[in-house]
Amino acid sequence: MLPIVSSTTLWVIRSSTTQTLVSGTCSCTCLFLSDHLKPASLFDILEKHVAFNAAYNSGEREAENASTCLEGTREDVIRKISAWVQGNTDLPICWLQGPAGSGKSTVAHTIAKQCDDNQKLAFSFFFSRSKLDRSDTAKFFPTFAHQLAQFFPAIQLSMQHALAGDASIPFQRLDDQIKKLIIDPILTIKEPISMIVVIDGLDECGGDEGLVQKLIWLLVHPTPRLPFRFLFTSRPEPHLEQTFASPSTKSKTCFLALRDFSAHDDVHHYLQLHLSEVRDRENQLMRDVPRPWPS
Ligand SMILES: Nc1ncnc2c1ncn2[C@@H]1O[C@H](COP(=O)(O)OP(=O)(O)O)[C@@H](O)[C@H]1O
Ligand SMILES: [Mg+2]
Repeated sequence: MLPIVSSTTLWVIRSSTTQTLVSGTCSCTCLFLSDHLKPASLFDILEKHVAFNAAYNSGEREAENASTCLEGTREDVIRKISAWVQGNTDLPICWLQGPAGSGKSTVAHTIAKQCDDNQKLAFSFFFSRSKLDRSDTAKFFPTFAHQLAQFFPAIQLSMQHALAGDASIPFQRLDDQIKKLIIDPILTIKEPISMIVVIDGLDECGGDEGLVQKLIWLLVHPTPRLPFRFLFTSRPEPHLEQTFASPSTKSKTCFLALRDFSAHDDVHHYLQLHLSEVRDRENQLMRDVPRPWPS
């Protein structure tokens, strides 16, 4: 039996079983170390700083009807991004831009799922301006670390070591967070590995414009040293265009604008499919409508 020692933040009380010793006017609480104190896992430490709903496949996104592209739609842009994923260029950044409602998140979701199915997706974060945790830059790097540690367990020890030495990392400025949670741990890995990160809706990231510009810079700047390729999507907003137009970022970026890909066939395909469903469902009502319908 040992008295509780609160020397390190890595140790947490997992059981409420305590024993109080009373001696004269002095009382102290003792715990049995063997079963009741266990090292908190990396995931325990990060948990309260993580935006779990930001992942492409979160239940919250599914409830918003977020999904992959309808089969047969957006084939050209998906083919281009898939080729970039496969490494057809040395450019580590891909920026897909388009106006609101043009289908950026749906394309990003499709790519994230493909990468996930092929064990290439290290991290996905889908910003949403209407959700507190999904627009909070403070949650971005802990969420990155949490997903990366699951995808790539070899990194867990160095992440855990960093957090054991300094539990305040999730509260620090973004520069320190990325260095201590992502860059330093990944640089301890010697084996060659290539990973994809999908970040959707930069324009939906909360805080001021300078903060999201900084976030992009922090991710893009160290890319030559890191095994990540980043797919970003956003509306073409001036502060984001300015960031991607800066020479050091531009030289690393594959630019794709959804307006350059015709959606005519996609809309035709979409209407065909859904109107055929209506026809089949309302067969009786539509019995006098000449076929084929829709023509
Ligand atoms: N290729 C597609 N297949 C099926 N639905 C789509 C497709 N593209 C867009 N949508 C639908 O259109 C709406 C807007 O798409 P979204 O990807 O959210 O646009 P953005 O991210 O550009 O604002 C969503 O309801 C989405 O499900
Ligand atoms: Mg979107």
